Formats: sequence, structure tokens, C-alpha cells
Amino acid sequence: MKTKLPKIIVTSALPYANGSIHVGHLVEYIQTDMFVRFLKLAGEEAVYCCADDTHGAPIAIKADELKIKPEELIGKFAKEHLEDFKSFHIEFDSYYSTNSPENKHFSDLIFGRLKDKGYIYTKEIETTFCEHCKRSLPDRYVKGKCPRCGAEDQYGDVCEKCNSAYSTVDLVEPYCTICKNAPVRKDSKHYFFKLSAFSEQLNKWLTENKKLQPEIVNYVRNWIKEGLQDWDISRDGPYFGFNIPGEKDKFYYVWLDAPIGYISSYTNYIGNDVIKGEEGWNSSRIIHFIGKDIIYFHFLFWPAMLMASGFTLPETLVVHGFLTVNGEKMSKSRGTFFTAREFAQKYDPEHLRFYYAKVLSKKMSDIDLDFKDFQDSVNNELVSNIGNFCYRTLSFCNKYLDSKIGAIPKEKLIPEAEKLIENIHNAYFDANFNEAVKNILQLSTLGNKYFQANEPWKMIKEDKEKAGETITLCANLVKILSIVLKPILPEFSKRLQEQLGVKNLSWQDTKFNFKDTKINQAEILIDKLEIKEDETFPLDLKVAKILSAEAHPEADKLVVLQVDLNTEKRQIVAGIKNYYELSDLIEKKIVIVSNLKHAKLRGIESQGMLLAGEEGKKVSLLLSDAKVGSSLQFGTVKNNTAQVSFDDFLKVKMTVKDSKVYWDEKELKSVTVENISKGKVC
Ligand code: 2FM
Ligand code: ZN
Repeated sequence: MKTKLPKIIVTSALPYANGSIHVGHLVEYIQTDMFVRFLKLAGEEAVYCCADDTHGAPIAIKADELKIKPEELIGKFAKEHLEDFKSFHIEFDSYYSTNSPENKHFSDLIFGRLKDKGYIYTKEIETTFCEHCKRSLPDRYVKGKCPRCGAEDQYGDVCEKCNSAYSTVDLVEPYCTICKNAPVRKDSKHYFFKLSAFSEQLNKWLTENKKLQPEIVNYVRNWIKEGLQDWDISRDGPYFGFNIPGEKDKFYYVWLDAPIGYISSYTNYIGNDVIKGEEGWNSSRIIHFIGKDIIYFHFLFWPAMLMASGFTLPETLVVHGFLTVNGEKMSKSRGTFFTAREFAQKYDPEHLRFYYAKVLSKKMSDIDLDFKDFQDSVNNELVSNIGNFCYRTLSFCNKYLDSKIGAIPKEKLIPEAEKLIENIHNAYFDANFNEAVKNILQLSTLGNKYFQANEPWKMIKEDKEKAGETITLCANLVKILSIVLKPILPEFSKRLQEQLGVKNLSWQDTKFNFKDTKINQAEILIDKLEIKEDETFPLDLKVAKILSAEAHPEADKLVVLQVDLNTEKRQIVAGIKNYYELSDLIEKKIVIVSNLKHAKLRGIESQGMLLAGEEGKKVSLLLSDAKVGSSLQFGTVKNNTAQVSFDDFLKVKMTVKDSKVYWDEKELKSVTVENISKGKVC
């Protein structure tokens, strides 16, 4: 149990527990993490609370698909999410779950208070019901044509083509996504929250709160002007969520208990006492970070719920835009969709933190992860400017000054630097990260220029004391950089402080007072970013089914096979006559190189080549259980589909180990080579 309560609770939106974290999500978590790290560094009592958002139809559907219980699914994702966040140095004080007893408590408490005050009423509404599956069909369980634009195959809540929102009964030609039958309409009692009763209070809150981003306030106020609709907060079972008190088969809609998860996660932080949780929440300042897609929930429903139930409202909400990659929406087919895990395997997570800090302003505008700009920023700003300044200062001190830091000279650089430090502080406080980065780079540039102008490498021969002073001043800047960069680059900062022989410095230490001490060995801490072309495997391997096999009329060892590739048939000539009976070959699903230049083998054309494993005298075909005609891959490496020559083929070294095929330590999926424990592919 923490005895001292934090003063500031900071949250990020709770990620759904049915999918992996991707680079788009990371914008917000990195942004919030940098903000909280700054607050702590500046001596504020702040906590970062978040949780997995575990309820709702998509979670139940995904669990059904995987034939597991929703509880198991959300357990898996909670673990995965935390690992991914950790790899990007995103450090929560509490990471909890909306499927927790505390969240049930607060959901019932808030719902109960709203009800007592007359803000909840019930109404019969038309819903969709599948008589075949004998269940009600909440939005993600029904599909049909959009009632507005006619787009096919849209879910029952919102059209992905025209973005209009509607209810399941509005769909044209609806069908149940489980059994594909047409559902019927059925009246059902639903619970509604009287959002309309809060128009005035919400308007007041929006107008008086000067910390909110003005562009957002404007458009939320417009929604209010147009008139607020009451909010349907219940769903019929089966549904994965919390039962509504007094009801058997009705549940809170996921968006009711999701934001309440912020309170529960905070309560988890202070030791799971719900009474103290409520008190603590109400005596704290609350700051939410969210994306622009969930403004409606966070600027209307959520504050209205808090107002109605007597909980403290957020002091501010920081809203960011969407992430594009290379100027476009992320796309799997263009190779611009990265999960956090994939990204961390390819790049240094701190590089991404630096880049996001550089492009994040306080505006709601979208941000772009442009790979060329990403590389240039990391290499020219982080590595060449900052990294280089730190290393040249400290390694010079190691080499020529016996690692000693001496007296600080009086220089006009000091007040200049102090101004920049103040700017950085203000920018961080305002969550204006690009402004912080700009000033940090100026600070480092100041250091580089000072080093360059004073030429300590020359001075050391003439006036060692003066050279020592120059380096001492630079080392002070290095120390200050290690502090001001800490919110963005916690790992870099920690290691830099190790080199300086200091630890856990706070914002208070951003002063020119580092003197008369010794530093440790300098090391290069941050490497240039190489952006490798995506690796490709040179051959296009495909599954082919043997339709017929005949002996080659002109050659003893060769057979002529007719194979099926699903979309085409081919003839393959192969030297396997000594190893297989012709009749045994029929129906086998073999692996062929489909992009090999066609060639004549003893007068008969071979349109590709089959693959076999070889170990001493043993030869065994590569066999696959994948679909006929499908491409086979080593891990996630894509195949080259352009034509290759026989010489190109010979350069590719594939090996067999324990009946599995490998290339570059990656396994060829869905393929086995019987009886070969250690050999090569030929
Ligand atoms: O949009 C989403 O991903 C939601 N899971 C965010 C919930 S934030 C909060 F309200 F819980
Ligand atoms: Zn059905």
C-alpha cells in the first residue's frame, strides 16, 4: 500500500484485448510515457495508469474463433501487450484489466448513482436476433449493406466506407455472421443514459476549461448545439462483459465500463481498496491522452458520467491524430503495417521514441512515420548531433585529461543554455514534444560549436588547464542533456549517466555544477540507423501435386512429371528415378521452384524444378501439407517471383535438419523431408 497518494493521474486509452499493439498505438503510449517521465523528473507526484479493454463483442468473437474462453484470450493479450510496451520502455505504474472486481465495483457504483438520480431509463427497442443461433446479435455479429451508402458487408454499428453510424436493425439485407442466416427483429428492453440532460453542464465545462485544445472544444460544442442523443448502455446476452445488477441476461455496453477502467487501474495502484480509490481519484488532477477517434466518448459520455456520479472530471485531455506510414494509411500489402514486436525486431525502440517526440506537437494533426525522414532524423540529429557531442566530450576527457572534470569556466554559453533548458521544461509541461526536441538539439548544437571553436585538441598541448575547463563545460552540457533527454530516451540517458559516474539525476540537476570529479569510460551509445531493404528469398517455392509420372525415354535417372499448381499445370523433369517407384509418386504434394527459367533436359522441357533433401546416399522429396499452388515461405520472408537462372538457383543454400528445411536459420513452413536428419536441399 502506497502511503502517499499521487497528485496527478495520467492515462492512455485502454487497448482492446483482442489484437496486438502496432506502431499506430505506440504514438499514444510513447507520448504519455514521455509526459509522465517528465512529470516525475520534475518532481511531480504522477502515476501512469492504463489497462486492457477486455469486454465486448469483438473479444467474444475472436475467442470463439480460437475456440478458447474470452478469459483465456484476454490473459494472453495482457501478457503480450505488457511485453511489447516494455520493449519500448513504456513504464506504467499500474497496468490493469477492465475485467476486474474493482471495475465491476465502480461500474455498478456509477450506474447505481446515475439510476438513483434518475439519469437512467429503460426503453423497448428493436434489436436483431438470430433464430437459428438462438441469440441476440450485437453490432459485430450482424453484417449487411450500409443503409446510407449501400456498401456491402458492413458491420451493424458503423460503415467503414462512409463512416455513418446506425444500429443493427438499419442494415439492409442483414445476415448473422455466425450462421449466415437472416436475423429477425425482436423487441428488447435496453437501458439508456440521459446524456441530453447534461448539455448545459458539458458546455460549461468545455468553455471554462482553458487547458483543452480549442479546435476540439469547438467541434464538441457543435455536437452539443445539434442536440445530444441519449445513450444506449446495455447489450443483450450472450455478451462478454458485466451483468447489469438485477438483470439476468443484460450487460453493460463495453464503452460504459471501459473508461471506468481508468479509476480501477488507479485503485489497483494504490492497493485495491475501492473506498480509497474513489477518494484518491477525487483528490487528484486527471489527465487523459486519447486519439481523435474516441473524442465523443471522452468529451461527452465520460465527463457526463463523472458529473452525474460525483467523481472528479479530467483537468485536460490531450488528443493526437492518426499515424500514417510514408504518407499513407498503414497497409499490410504495402509492407507498412508493423506490430510493435516486428518493429522492435528491426529497429531500436529509442529511435522510434525520438522520432515520435520530434513529430508530436500539441495539435491534433495526424503524424507521419516517413522512413526517409525517420532515418535522417536519427542519423543527423540524434547520432551526429547529440550522440557525437557526448562521445567526443567524454572520450576526450578519458584520453587527454585522465578522466578528470575540473573547474567550470564563466562563459556566455551558460545563460544561453539556461534559456534553452527553460524552454525544454515548458515544452514538456505542455506535452509539446517537438518543441522540446527542437530546444534539446539547439542545446547540443551549442555544445558542438563551443567544442569546435575552442579546439581542445590543440589547446591541450599549449594550455592543459584551459582545455580541461572547456571539456568540463562540455561535460556539464552532456550531463544536462542526459537529464532533458530522459523522458524521451530513458535507456540512453541511464547509460550516459553511468559514463558520467552519476545516477538518477532530476530536473533540479540541470545546472552547471558538475565539477571536480572523475568520469567513467566513454562509449558510443547510439548507432546510426540503417534501413535495410526487406529481405527476399530468391526463389518462388510452390506446392505442386503430381498427376502423373513417366520414365524419361532418353535418360535412365530421369522421370517426367505432370503436376498441378491449381491455376496451371506444368511438366517437370527430375532425377529421382533411382529413389521412387513411379506409381508411388502420384498424388504426392511436392515443392517446386516455379520461377526457374524453363530448360530442356535430354530433349524434354522442364517447366521448373522439384526439390529434394539429400543425406549421403539418401534422397527424399520435400513434401508439403499446404494448399496446392500456394507459395511457401521461410518465416515471414517474401519470395522473389521474377525469373531466375539455374546458376542463381545453385547459389541458394538450403539445409535440412530433423526433416525440416532451413534457409538463413529460418524454417520453411508446412514442409517436411522424411528420413533426412542432417543434409542439404538439391
Ligand atoms: O478505442 C479503443 O481502442 C478503446 N479500447 C479505448 C478505450 S479508452 C477508455 F475509455 F477505456
Ligand atoms: Zn445465426
